[in-house]
Amino acid sequence: MHSILARVACRKPPSDRYANKRVQLESTSMNAIDLMFRALQPQDASAVGRLMSEHPLWGDRDHDEQSRRIARLLDRGEYGLIAEYVKDDERVLAGFTIMSDSTFGDHGYIRLIGIQPRLTGQGIGTRLLHVAEVRFAQRQIRRVFLLCTDWNTGAQAFYERHGYKRVGVLPDWLEGGVNELIYVKRGLDDHE
Ligand SMILES: CC(C)(COP(=O)(O)OP(=O)(O)OC[C@H]1O[C@@H](n2cnc3c(N)ncnc32)[C@H](O)[C@@H]1OP(=O)(O)O)[C@@H](O)C(=O)NCCC(=O)NCCS
Repeated sequence: MHSILARVACRKPPSDRYANKRVQLESTSMNAIDLMFRALQPQDASAVGRLMSEHPLWGDRDHDEQSRRIARLLDRGEYGLIAEYVKDDERVLAGFTIMSDSTFGDHGYIRLIGIQPRLTGQGIGTRLLHVAEVRFAQRQIRRVFLLCTDWNTGAQAFYERHGYKRVGVLPDWLEGGVNELIYVKRGLDDHE
């Protein structure tokens, strides 16, 4: 998988669908950054585990536990994407996905997507999701599904904005009283 350089522009994606992949991220919290997308490697498990353990959504498990979880998922054939940027000559993790092919018949599956909490709401998740969808389409996978916990209304709005349709619910899935909503998107486009 090739790295993709994308200078992220703003909260909303540009209308050219990243055709030139070089637009500027502006925010109150940081200066413009060049975002790069690449395949998640086994050696990224620790950094991803760190992001997860420090994130309010996943903070119930510590760094080691989250890192082992990521390593296990990679071991069993799932793969992922990393969004990162360079600061002071160091690569800084901005976000990640974990995904797999051919789940639910010919549907791809996005198991996890997460952005560093301090970087949310700046369009990085939108771009990461788009790169993930293009990756599927390039592998001839034109449909994708994912699960979103019923109380995670922010992520639901995010997915719905990006064309995901809620098609069902898995009641009491991870624990009693907590439902997972099933989202599907069809007709993925391999245009970067
Ligand atoms: C959901 C998530 C991936 C979106 O990435 P992002 O970079 O914040 O998203 P974008 O900037 O491209 O789009 C912003 C939209 O995402 C949604 N959103 C969800 N959580 C958000 C948050 N904490 N802050 C800001 N926007 C959030 C909103 O609908 C927002 O729309 P708005 O700008 O009209 O308010 C990211 O917020 C995240 O990592 N959330 C926690 C992990 C998670 O819930 N993952 C999905 C389940 S596995």
